[in-house]
Amino acid sequence: MAKRILSGIQPTSDSFHLGNYLGALKQWVELQEGNDAFYCIVDLHALTGEIDPALLRKRILASAAQLIALGISPEKSTLFVQSHVSEHNQLGWIMECIAGFGEANRMTQFKDKSAKGGADSARVGLFTYPMLQAADILLYQAHYVPVGEDQRQHIELTRDLATRFNTRFGDTFQIPEGYILKSGAKIYDLQEPRNKMSKSSGSAAGVLEILDTPEANAKKIKSATTDAGREVRFDEKDKPGISNLLTIHSALSGKKISELENEFAGQGYGDFKGAVAEVVVEYLRPIRARALELLEDERNLVQILHIGADKARTVASKTVAESYKNLGLVL
Ligand code: AMP
Ligand code: TRP
Repeated sequence: MAKRILSGIQPTSDSFHLGNYLGALKQWVELQEGNDAFYCIVDLHALTGEIDPALLRKRILASAAQLIALGISPEKSTLFVQSHVSEHNQLGWIMECIAGFGEANRMTQFKDKSAKGGADSARVGLFTYPMLQAADILLYQAHYVPVGEDQRQHIELTRDLATRFNTRFGDTFQIPEGYILKSGAKIYDLQEPRNKMSKSSGSAAGVLEILDTPEANAKKIKSATTDAGREVRFDEKDKPGISNLLTIHSALSGKKISELENEFAGQGYGDFKGAVAEVVVEYLRPIRARALELLEDERNLVQILHIGADKARTVASKTVAESYKNLGLVL
């Protein structure tokens, strides 16, 4: 039987970056085949940070366009925006009433994000974020949740909450499993290769954006920090910069890392970086073009999202009704 897949991504940047793609979105595309996939642009989660209305609107649309351009097919999977399906808020509240304050307080993403802005500026919504995420997943009775390594703890919490609910109130939720790529999932900043590629930390020069021009991305790769020595060899401890570039090349070209080490044996870092730039730029060129084309017809794009939301709501409303009934709420 086809497995139900659910994942979500925040519309918090003008463009997704290569880490988002290789760590998460590439798997989304693969998992559409033979599964029943639901992919959600989690705009309500994006409200837990700084809110700029004009920018948020633009980013939600840009996210949708990029997902489609990267290969998420609105026919094969259900692609929708979280705020279009109000069941997310309904089940989110239930999850907040199931979760303990202590376990929510142990979430490292909350600790990291609240520490960055200073504890006083963190919103309550940032604290309750993982319970809304649990609702995103449980609403669709998902078997698998493809995410990057950094989301492991949120998936564990979701499983705990679902199990607790089922035990206390009767079988209601499928217990989901994380679907986390073992290797190659983590992409690092080109300038600071010990930090993960991320739009919120590090330098703009260290992040490869899907919607950036081919010239800009080529330049970033050619100016990537490399390491002492001159050998193109995978060694994350002593050669984090070169290892990161090997990971990127391998993920996009499909060549094994050992193959690449042989191919570039005896060549300098400059030649290697030129080759990586070529692979990245040619991979992203058609994707960027398609995304920009989709963004030119906003009405059509929003219509695609509304169709997705209708499909999502059909499943989500059943789960909410079932959980309300099991909780003793009068329907
Ligand atoms: P974010 O927008 O940072 O919340 O990330 C969206 C998705 O991309 C999540 O599933 C992350 O785990 C994944 N992700 C973000 N940055 C990276 C990275 N540098 N390497 C691998 N995966 C990443
Ligand atoms: N918290 C996830 C992230 O930062 C985004 C997210 C929200 C999500 N809801 C989800 C991921 C549901 C998977 C499933 O990447």
